[in-house]
Order: sequence, then structure tokens, then C-alpha cells
Amino acid sequence: MPDYRDRFHIPRAADGGECVYLCTQSLGLQPKSVRAYIEQELKDWELLGVEGHFRARHPWVEYNKLLTEQTARLVGAQPVEVVAMNTLTVNLHLMMVSFYRPTARRHRIVIEEHAFPSDQYAVQSQARFHGYDPAEAVVEVAGEDELEEFLDREGESVALVLMGGVNYSSGRAFDMARVTQMGHAHGCVVGFDLAHAAGNLVLKLHAWDADFAVWCTYKYLNGGPGGIAGCFVHQRHARDEGLPRFAGWWGHELETRFRMGPDFVPSRGAEGWQVSNPPVVALAALRASMDLFDEAGMEWVRARSLELTGYLESQLGRHTGCGFSIVTPRDPERRGAQLSIRVPGPVRAVWERLAAASVVCDWREPDILRVAPAPLYNTVEDVDRFVNRFVAALR
Ligand SMILES: Cc1ncc(COP(=O)(O)O)c(C=O)c1O
Repeated sequence: MPDYRDRFHIPRAADGGECVYLCTQSLGLQPKSVRAYIEQELKDWELLGVEGHFRARHPWVEYNKLLTEQTARLVGAQPVEVVAMNTLTVNLHLMMVSFYRPTARRHRIVIEEHAFPSDQYAVQSQARFHGYDPAEAVVEVAGEDELEEFLDREGESVALVLMGGVNYSSGRAFDMARVTQMGHAHGCVVGFDLAHAAGNLVLKLHAWDADFAVWCTYKYLNGGPGGIAGCFVHQRHARDEGLPRFAGWWGHELETRFRMGPDFVPSRGAEGWQVSNPPVVALAALRASMDLFDEAGMEWVRARSLELTGYLESQLGRHTGCGFSIVTPRDPERRGAQLSIRVPGPVRAVWERLAAASVVCDWREPDILRVAPAPLYNTVEDVDRFVNRFVAALR
């Protein structure tokens, strides 16, 4: 088995040893190669100043393109369908400007129950922006079956179906092919928030026919805190200049961008949704990690993830008498790396005991502990250490 662990910095515990880091669902670790990627850009900036835009080793005007092929492979897309830009919620809004186009008859947005708050705020504010009351316009569904029932009943009122790839709290993975097919069958636009799915699941956005998707890169993709986000727009929208969008100069086609003309001519595909010139240092950090993902391949990453998370589940299963339960689906196809554990009593106290024992994971109110073994750097030993310390923390 290739050893990727050694290519990451593992945070240190107070005693100088390695932490048991199971918190990639929140923030992925730093690849050791990040420093060299960033230093290259610092060097070019130091030596070239503004000339770096055209004369840097990797000219900054087109720097984002260094990520295009890899990103396309990562999410199962055509290169024209993807771009790294902005941050996740910003991209979600930009996508909704184009793809949430409510009419009096068809104005609702369907989202997953217990969606991440930022997604809830984003869809509520979009509904309000168009003059609709979110209490009526935003509908929550528990999963695919409930979505089907709702669409069968009231599909004609739905403009947009926006689901997570994996729910941040429960760790449940949605069947994105089925969601897309159902949404389209009812005439809805279908988009995904892949914050917890990109770099975690094998994605086939183009084949599934999703209209758009957005994701962050600081979790499973190890792009660094606040790192630049990703965006997918299906090829069939690549040349649709009739779609409304919030434009900025970086979305203008590259060939004529620097003529600085008054009329906006969008780049073809996802790049046409760019607004500002991107942060090169953040792109450089992401390249370091994406090179590792590309080397490993998502099929390998997912196979290793199934192994590790399955092992975690089986080891926890030996201690069910301790009063906790796993709320994440038991079917490996319906989850990614994360297991969400409902603990008896205050979760914060359990988390604090784990933190004192050098285990890094996180918790969500009221009683959920989230742990995710990352396929590129976690090991069965990490899982064993976690389970032992978790059981001790419950006592
Ligand atoms: C599912 C989901 N959506 C949105 C966000 C918000 O991301 P950002 O702050 O990068 O916009 C997060 C952050 O953890 C998330 O998990």
C-alpha cells in the first residue's frame, strides 16, 4: 500500500508524540509539499513583481488552469465544467443567481433536512431576495424517498433541488444520481453542496447530469484553512449567455480580457462564473494536495476509506454497552469517511476528555461526536487509539 501519511504534517500532542487526528471533516492536514508550492510563488513575486502575471514559472493570469484537469478527474467532470474560485458559500450564491430562477408558479427550493446553517441562510436569503417568504418557499426533506414523495405531490412548485453530497452532521451520503434524475424529471434545476463529498466519495457529476455543484477544499481536500473553493457547471450551460450571472472581469474570456472593454464576454464553461482574480497562494496550496489526490486516484482513496471507516465501525461495535450509538447509515454506500456518534450525556465533556488524550475530533450540538479517518493519512492504529480513548472518556 502506498504510504501517503508521511507526506502530511501530523499535529503534535503536548508530549511531542503524534495526535490521533480524526477531524478531516472539519479541516484536512497540511501536505508537506505545500511549502515548496507556495515558496515558488513567493519567489516569483519577490523577483518579478507584477511581471509574475505573465513571466512567473506558472504565470498567474492562468494559474487556476493548473488545477483544471485534476479537479475534473476528482469530481467526474469535463475540464470545461470546473473552476477553483472564491469560497463555498459565495459560490453557492453565484450559482443560485444563475440557477435559481423562480416564477410565481415554480419558486420553491428543496434542501436536505439539517443542512449546514450557511446553506440554510443562503437559500433563505435567495428566496427573500426574489420576494418569497422562506417559511413557505424553502422545503426540507429527510432524504431521497421523501424528496420523491414531495416532488410527486408538489414538484411543479419547485425551482431548485439543492442537496448535500454528504450531510455534515449525520454523515449520510445522498444518492446524487437519483436526486438529479428525480429533480430533472419534475422540471427542477438540481445542484449539490459537496463540502463533505469532494475528496471523500467517487463523484460523477457530468454523468449524473447535475446542473451545478460547489465545494470547499479545506476538509477532505487539504487545501488549507479558508482555502479556495470549487465549482462545477454542467457543460450544457457552458455557452448559455442568456443565464443571468453576477459578472466580474476574471469571468471575461481570457483572449480579450485585458483589452478592458465595457462589454462582458464570458469565458466558456465554469470559468465564466469567476468574478475576481484568484488568490495565487491559496491556489498553490491546493495544488500540493490535488497532486497527491491525483497520484492516489479517487478509486483508491475511496477503497481505503471504506476499509478504515468499516474498521472504525467494527471496533466501536465491540463497546455498544457503553451507551453510544452510530447515527451515520450502516450501509457503506450511504456514507463517506465520517461516523457521527451519539453519546450519552454532554458531548462537550466527552470531547474535552478526548482532547486531553490527544485525540482531535469535533462535536455538534446537542450530542454528536464526529470522527472521520482520512484515507491518505489515518491508519488502523489511529482507529484503535481513538476507540480505546473514546471508551475511556465515556467512563
Ligand atoms: C456543508 C457545508 N456547507 C457550507 C459550509 C460553509 O463553508 P464556507 O465557510 O467555506 O462558505 C460548510 C462549512 O463547513 C459546510 O460544511
